Amino acid sequence: MQTREIVVSGIRPTGFLHLGNYFGAIRQYLHMQQTYECYFFVADYHSLTTHQNPHELRNHVYRVLAEYLACGLDPEQATIYVQSDMPEKAELYLLLNMLAYKGELEKVPTFKEKIRGKKEGINAGLLTYPVLMAADILIHRATKVPVGKDQEPHLEMARNLASRFNQKFGFLFPEPTAYSETGTLLKVPSLDGKGKMSKSENEMATIYLADSDDIIRKKLARAKTDAGPQTPHSPKSPEIENLFLLLKLVSAPETLAYFEQAYDNCTIRYGELKQQLADDIISLIAPIRERAAALQKDIHTLQKIRKQGAEKACASARQTLLQARALMGIQYD
Ligand code: TRP
Repeated sequence: MQTREIVVSGIRPTGFLHLGNYFGAIRQYLHMQQTYECYFFVADYHSLTTHQNPHELRNHVYRVLAEYLACGLDPEQATIYVQSDMPEKAELYLLLNMLAYKGELEKVPTFKEKIRGKKEGINAGLLTYPVLMAADILIHRATKVPVGKDQEPHLEMARNLASRFNQKFGFLFPEPTAYSETGTLLKVPSLDGKGKMSKSENEMATIYLADSDDIIRKKLARAKTDAGPQTPHSPKSPEIENLFLLLKLVSAPETLAYFEQAYDNCTIRYGELKQQLADDIISLIAPIRERAAALQKDIHTLQKIRKQGAEKACASARQTLLQARALMGIQYD
């Protein structure tokens, strides 16, 4: 029987989801859930490598879950679950750790980035972050992983671990690759012309899915601009380029064309562009925000979805784990 290709992706519950998560990840999930066998989870274990606040975790986890659903992830189509609800994954992580080399883990760019300038408090969970991520993916024997560009080194680790396991113990894991529908992995720029939108940094330059209409308007009003084009067909400064990138994502093609033309012939009014952008972002976000808020009040429904998701996800994970154990010789009955 030809089975559907398997897709896995997760988001860490370390803060409010934002437009970057929406366009970089969630919008792809929405398309993929219609075609593939999808597993989308909340990566709460991963969040503990950097954020350890027992009083906030529950809220963060349920908020990401609510935001997933509010964006249109459908528990009937995809399997939606919470990472720590799957003990099989933790066990596979333990097994894969036996195949991961300290040297290669220390070379992973995200690790180097996170420990830069730090002498203390570098926990082993941070070092083995890519091993847990490999377990996330391999436990479902997934081949496609919709993630941003910054995650490519992690996927390479997942492929290395898969192929090392297969060679040493016998074939079990297909090698996963990063997947993007458009071919280019999307980065959503921040409103200050620097870097991308972020869950926990530069709050005024990031639009969160939970932002009120008012806040969205304020953030756009404050977005950085420049003195405006002085000659026709001028190149755009980074901050203006970013505003156009956002227009491209949220506005109608005619709107984009209108402002492109205005820029090119130097008649553009940034105030008008920002207002239009605010309107279009609000039409996208307001319904998501309201659905997510309603869901977060309905903890029973969220809990039910969480548990059903875990049940579905664990059923297939158990098979993979049993095979991994057997191939490694952990089979004593
Ligand atoms: N590391 C990913 C990020 O920071 C989150 C993540 C954890 C993930 N496990 C995963 C993504 C498995 C895809 C597949 O964005």
